[in-house]
Amino acid sequence: MPTKVDNSLTRPVTGAAAGPSRKKRQLRWAVPLLLVAVAFVGYALPPYLTLDPSRSRLPVPEAHPQYYPLLVAHIVFGSVALLAGCFQVWPWFRRRYPLAHRWMGRAYFFGGVFPAGIAVLGVAPLSSTGFVSQVGNTMLAVLWLATSVAGYRMARQRRFVDHRRWMIRSFALTLSIVLNRLWVVLFVVLLLPQVDTTYGGDQDALIRAAAGASVWMSWVVNLLVAEWWLERGDARGRARRAGRSAGRRPAA
Ligand code: HEM
Repeated sequence: MPTKVDNSLTRPVTGAAAGPSRKKRQLRWAVPLLLVAVAFVGYALPPYLTLDPSRSRLPVPEAHPQYYPLLVAHIVFGSVALLAGCFQVWPWFRRRYPLAHRWMGRAYFFGGVFPAGIAVLGVAPLSSTGFVSQVGNTMLAVLWLATSVAGYRMARQRRFVDHRRWMIRSFALTLSIVLNRLWVVLFVVLLLPQVDTTYGGDQDALIRAAAGASVWMSWVVNLLVAEWWLERGDARGRARRAGRSAGRRPAA
């Protein structure tokens, strides 16, 4: 649905909307989010900065020499997207520092999602964790690029309400990399009792099954949560507007 132009990006921090309780409430999720992102990047990135394929945490297929450089590019640019995205979705930061929001937005898109998403299109079909992961990751990469391109275009057209909605979807997909690690641990623990039965003692088959399921769960669930979050915000906005217009209505 086309939405009206909104200037919230540049609106000054005033009144109840910027009150200390709202700021405090946002800090409760924004700070842990940033800490998790920093911890993830601090753990995941360093081995790939050496540019030494033997330090890769994933097996590097010898038959595909492009795999490792693309993987490194994906991880470096993906780290920029993850860190910049934490600031971009933080409403207080967005309103307090609109110029920083613009520059970080450019970093998120041009120095993060776009190159990381393009690079991973050459990596995902070669994943060693099997076909289900390959399809799930390729689909994730396409949606990651599509939602981010849509968000960027909305900002260029100054349709900031739609811009925010698409960027929340984009960042939900960015965060899937972090949630993926939790899903995979959960699925390995759940499947382990079946290693000798369902998987005939083949631990690699069990890992492939857990990895495939976790790829899909990590982004499908994140996207559903993002839609729920957006819908909840819309419902609250409608309720506030209805309350205001009821208050303005003259007494009969
Ligand atoms: C949201 C879209 C993303 C997609 C589709 C995606 C896809 C992939 C794929 C296919 C691989 C290789 C897996 C394999 O060969 O088995 C990979 C590896 C990796 N990705 Fe992403 N990724 C995404 C986002 C991110 C982000 C935002 C980061 C942030 C740092 C990131 C960090 C990594 C890391 C560190 C690895 C190597 C895994 C390891 O060392 O354990 N990815 N990704």
